[in-house]
Amino acid sequence: MQSSSIEINTYTSLNPKQLNEISLFKKENPGMRNATRTFEEIQTHGDKYCSDADIKKWILATKNDQIVGIIAVFQRTITFQNTDVLLGGIGKVRVAVNQRKQGIASKMMKAAMQELDTQKAEVAYLCTNLDSFLAEWYGNYGFVPLAKPYTYLGLSGKKYTETDGMIAPITSQKIYEMILTSSEILNLGTGNW
Ligand SMILES: CC(C)(COP(=O)(O)OP(=O)(O)OC[C@H]1O[C@@H](n2cnc3c(N)ncnc32)[C@H](O)[C@@H]1OP(=O)(O)O)[C@@H](O)C(=O)NCCC(=O)NCCS
Repeated sequence: MQSSSIEINTYTSLNPKQLNEISLFKKENPGMRNATRTFEEIQTHGDKYCSDADIKKWILATKNDQIVGIIAVFQRTITFQNTDVLLGGIGKVRVAVNQRKQGIASKMMKAAMQELDTQKAEVAYLCTNLDSFLAEWYGNYGFVPLAKPYTYLGLSGKKYTETDGMIAPITSQKIYEMILTSSEILNLGTGNW
């Protein structure tokens, strides 16, 4: 029997059926922060990652018409050193547990980086577990650890400070270097991704 191949597609918006499939996919395939969460942890996660309005593209990997991988490409204008910066981003990166280590995330990531380029984001930001293989993997796409804290507001208005950020230059090497070398803290605005 011929093995079916993986399709990578990019969407500007998703229909209700796709949104429902993604929700099921996420339930069945735990993310980075894996283990069962307490009610408080779920609340905090919702407060922090409240940026769905800034999703510009969805990258979906499918096999036999089933979703086996997702990435969301974000975009938001932030202010850094009194300058408007078009900040792109990568988030919601996940592959089905039984389809991992076959290059699916890498294929989706290539498509996501192309989107950031098409959108003319100046720099891109993501957060990840910097102590895992992910830091080196995102490094393949130009991301380096921010190496300083960054801040953002949750949906509730609560201010969060984290240290797990990575950034990559997209269209502006100058802004990328400015963010990395400046002592100013990167403030994402409202919502992490
Ligand atoms: C992270 C994740 C998306 C990777 O998906 P994947 O399709 O298995 O990744 P790929 O097969 O494209 O592999 C990507 C690279 O990571 C490496 N890799 C993948 N899983 C790994 C693991 N568990 N340990 C070490 N290296 C790993 C691969 O060898 C590959 O490296 P290479 O590009 O140098 O060859 C998947 O493991 C996942 O969904 N994890 C849970 C959610 C998560 O952590 N998301 C990231 C949030 S920032």
